[in-house]
Amino acid sequence: MSATTPDATPYVLVLYYSRHGATRTLAEQIAAGIESISGVEARLRRVPEISATCEQTEPEIPDSGAMYVELDDLRHCSGLALGSPTRFGNMAAPLKYFLDSTSELWMNGALIDKPATAFSASSSLHGGQETTLITMLIPLLHHGMVYAGVPYSATELLETTQGGTPYGTTHVSGKRGDNDVDDNEQRLALAQGKRIARLALAMQPLRETK
Ligand SMILES: Cc1cc2nc3c(=O)[nH]c(=O)nc-3n(C[C@H](O)[C@H](O)[C@H](O)COP(=O)(O)O)c2cc1C
Repeated sequence: MSATTPDATPYVLVLYYSRHGATRTLAEQIAAGIESISGVEARLRRVPEISATCEQTEPEIPDSGAMYVELDDLRHCSGLALGSPTRFGNMAAPLKYFLDSTSELWMNGALIDKPATAFSASSSLHGGQETTLITMLIPLLHHGMVYAGVPYSATELLETTQGGTPYGTTHVSGKRGDNDVDDNEQRLALAQGKRIARLALAMQPLRETK
């Protein structure tokens, strides 16, 4: 069974898809939370766009922004933070397309007992953020990952009038998609990053003693 690459610093894979940048902003904040915990790094990766016929439509190396994910990024991670815009109350197709390519990891149990969390952005407050997060956790459970949300010790959950759920951080981007990530959403993303980083470190011995 595959664990973290030997001798390498453990990392949490922050894997996302973002068309307009809202989900990317959350991803970067979660990565900042991960990086604030010593002994673990954040690896920021995204999935490429796909066409209606499900072919990759972009060059292998993107012109800017995070690198595209490779299967090995997922195979060797110590934890995963998965981000997608809300699309009709569900995760976006490019991310699902990537997840559908992970059967080999599933067959080898490569992700069993690794912690995972999810985050999302939507234009409207009640536009399906929570259902999106729930649909995102289902394939992760099939992989044997241990899902971690955001506990209410993050008191912003009780104060927010925008994004933020116990299932994972969210952002409400607004009708035109131009709302900034507000203070509560930002703090929740940071707390989520810190939590997944701590869990990634804490669960490592569990996997090593198998
Ligand atoms: C095809 C499609 C479906 C969408 N479905 C929803 C939805 O169900 N609820 C919602 O509030 N916003 C919906 N949106 C808006 C996006 O979730 C929103 O603009 C989000 O902030 C985009 O994230 P990004 O900036 O990371 O691409 C949809 C957008 C698209 C293009």
